[in-house]
Amino acid sequence: MRVRIFKLTERNNFAILLDITALVRKAHHSRDSGGESITLEFLLGTQMTDIKKSIHGEWSSRFAFILAATGSAVGLGNIWKFPYIAGENGGGAFVLVYLLCVLLIGIPIMMAETMLGRRSRQNPIDTMITLADEAGADKNWHYLGWMGVIAGFLILSYYSVIAGWASAYTVKAFFGSFSGADATEIKSLFDGFVGSPLQLMFWHSLFMLATMLIVARGVNTGLEKAVRFLMPSLFVLLILLVGYAMTTGDYYDQGIAFLFSPDFSKLTGEGVLIAMGHAFFTLSLGMGAIMIYGSYLPKDVSIAKTVYLIAGTDTVVALLAGIAIFPIVFASGLEPAVGPGLIFQTLPIAFGNMTGGWFFGVLFFVMLVFAALSSSISLIEPAVAWLVEKKDMSRKQACIWSGAVTWLLGLATVFSFNAWSNVKVFDRTLFQLLDYLTANLMLPIGGFCIAVFAGWIMTQQHTTHEMDMPDALSYKVWRFVIRYVSPTAVFLVFLNVIGVL
Ligand code: PHE
Repeated sequence: MRVRIFKLTERNNFAILLDITALVRKAHHSRDSGGESITLEFLLGTQMTDIKKSIHGEWSSRFAFILAATGSAVGLGNIWKFPYIAGENGGGAFVLVYLLCVLLIGIPIMMAETMLGRRSRQNPIDTMITLADEAGADKNWHYLGWMGVIAGFLILSYYSVIAGWASAYTVKAFFGSFSGADATEIKSLFDGFVGSPLQLMFWHSLFMLATMLIVARGVNTGLEKAVRFLMPSLFVLLILLVGYAMTTGDYYDQGIAFLFSPDFSKLTGEGVLIAMGHAFFTLSLGMGAIMIYGSYLPKDVSIAKTVYLIAGTDTVVALLAGIAIFPIVFASGLEPAVGPGLIFQTLPIAFGNMTGGWFFGVLFFVMLVFAALSSSISLIEPAVAWLVEKKDMSRKQACIWSGAVTWLLGLATVFSFNAWSNVKVFDRTLFQLLDYLTANLMLPIGGFCIAVFAGWIMTQQHTTHEMDMPDALSYKVWRFVIRYVSPTAVFLVFLNVIGVL
């Protein structure tokens, strides 16, 4: 059966023909995966987004969205990356800049990105096409969607390798590898592990497979349940680790002081860029992950309140991780600037020597793997949604394709820690290059464009309607920040790093 339907948008009075054979088929997929079936109606003007639903389904509630978006935000970025980059960039002043970036750039852009997704209810590429069209703007905005999809692949390629480390460490913890070990033993354990391409490849493959399996089932079924339990547990465990860190003796003098007393002489322009890039990375911004999750968000949910909660939780988790790790770093005579291995060289010392360390160690790494999983699925979801919507694939096929590409790309990171550790591009290993390119360039550029689009391109009528702020003042503040403050801040950081400022 082939049925055609006319869809009218506010600006064009001409009809867009939609081939709904594919849609009907997809409606089946989404019903299979627990989503909702779609209603086809004549859609007109501003009301368009009120009745429109994503063909992939919708979150069952505001709480489900909060869990999923928090799941996306909280991940390796908070527990693995934040401590090591804070360590490499001198601590306090870096942390302060990061917090400022979350507040002035991250939170407003997160609201904008969620809003764009919810307004269009499609994958990021088509979101940009539809919304640019609605605003009478240039078609080229869809390149923003493309950049996001590509950034997602690139990030996931190394994210999966590091998540693989966490998986391997779960097994090591289980077999008691840390028991009674001192800093030197833990370090040689780590060096031996990352020196082995085969081991890294094995765990990377396993993690990619798990990601693909979850995404194939649809992000809003199994995931909702898993995250509901995992997020609170991770939180409790971090607090427990902070408790252990307090007993190390170096808690206030060095650990806390390192993180919270700013010494600006230690902060470089490059450090500021890394802090800003991390604000994007940790909140999953600038590449469409939050946009696609926003596209599954029910209409009656307050975007602003929800975003505060998500960003707040994300920040607290990162700070807790830092507070747990640095006292151990100093108490064990380690360097804060050892790089990506930091948590793998510090926390096992704690687990190996504290009472109940076996149990907590296993639990911690299991949870880290799950936190990584709930982020990795959001990295690949924009691409999968696009393949399903546009290339007529089933979710399963879309997952296989995008998973295979990411897995292959991930090999660059695998080898950059061993066989190719001498291969340098712009003075960086392939892993460092991928990280720099995505977190410090692509995400901030993506976020900058999102801010400009929401602040300058979309009409005020549309953003007011979609943001649906509790009062007029909050809306005005948001609009001011998204138009002037966030884009200017990103721009200045870039000027600074290329030496213009
Ligand atoms: N925010 C995730 C983390 O901190 C990583 C991520 C980045 C996820 C970009 C999605 C998009 O681990």
